[in-house]
Amino acid sequence: MSRNNSYFDFSGNATSALRKFLATKASMPFVEYMSHALYHPDFGYYAQTPQQIGKRGDFFTSVSCGPLFGRIIAHYIARWWCEAKISGPWRIVEPGPNNAALACDILQTLATDFPEAYATVEYLTIDPMPLPLAFQQQALARFGKTARCVSNVTGIDPQPTFVIANEIIDALPCRLIQQSEMGWQEVYVQTDEATGQFHETLRPLPSCSLLNDYPIGYRTEFRDNVQAFMASLTAVMSTGRLLFIDYGFAAPEYYHADRTSGTLRCYRYHRASENFLDHPGEHDITAHVNFTQVAHVAEALQCAILRFEPQEFFLTRHAATILETSASDSALIRNFQTLTHPAHLGGKFHVIELSLGENLTTPQIVKQRLAI
Ligand SMILES: C[S@@+](CC[C@H](N)C(=O)[O-])C[C@H]1O[C@@H](n2cnc3c(N)ncnc32)[C@H](O)[C@@H]1O
Repeated sequence: MSRNNSYFDFSGNATSALRKFLATKASMPFVEYMSHALYHPDFGYYAQTPQQIGKRGDFFTSVSCGPLFGRIIAHYIARWWCEAKISGPWRIVEPGPNNAALACDILQTLATDFPEAYATVEYLTIDPMPLPLAFQQQALARFGKTARCVSNVTGIDPQPTFVIANEIIDALPCRLIQQSEMGWQEVYVQTDEATGQFHETLRPLPSCSLLNDYPIGYRTEFRDNVQAFMASLTAVMSTGRLLFIDYGFAAPEYYHADRTSGTLRCYRYHRASENFLDHPGEHDITAHVNFTQVAHVAEALQCAILRFEPQEFFLTRHAATILETSASDSALIRNFQTLTHPAHLGGKFHVIELSLGENLTTPQIVKQRLAI
């Protein structure tokens, strides 16, 4: 399988262009390498016109499996809009919409099933990358002024808002660390001057909140950009909800002693690998989400945590009305099974829902599940 040239537009080869750029760095922490590999403005994996997701891309998401995911989310958002009695303008905010398929599914469902909610909504997508942004603007043009695509939230006034973020936190660059005889060390990527090849080295890590009682060689990850990312979203909310859907665990499971090689993976043509040095710019690099960290950040941002549960439970609970009216639609039923089967996406993905400014509290059971 080969990429078409519009995807990699620097001499037809993003990998060599990105490799040349990375080689100028001599040595960098893995987090910086991941950041360039995914988000270099010209050669980064996610800087290209979106075609990374789906059958002909590198990996599937719940959105790329069919329209049911977006329809269920739209019904959930509309129910919130109704129960919160929002009378004026309101927003749905989606960071990282990629090919805008989820935005299209949600807006189409609102327009058809909830015209009153649709009449006053603005659907705001956020993507810092120019090519994906232009693609999203085109894909959403049919919704007119109801959809707006921006590169950041500067100047956006706070409004009642529902944030939906599917598979975004896993794509935020992470630090890669390893337990050694000298304590935790950080993985660096270094360029061999003679061959131009990349290789790993370990350097001391100034501070780490993880205990030092893991086996030597234990490798894992953590992110120090989650607070800034979530704060950029709550900044545009006067009140409302944030729904993050992603793969990951609460901290005790994430940092379990048996998870000796962490969760960092690369995806290319639907094959997983741990060799992040092999195809910079041509494969996705991702690590699971530490939902306990998300919960701590949520509390610091004055949010209540309403739920933390497998996608299977969340989607099944909220799909009933749609499935009842489409019982003979076999494609929809197959879509439902893929999204909710515990061995497929239903068990792999988790949903965490936050509430801002609604005077709600975090249930005890949610605190226990998140170990906070
Ligand atoms: C796995 S893809 C998203 C998939 C998509 N939401 C879906 O459900 O099909 C991850 C996306 O997150 C975006 N992203 C990463 N950091 C971001 C940020 N700080 N703000 C907005 N988008 C971001 C990337 O550009 C990339 O398109």
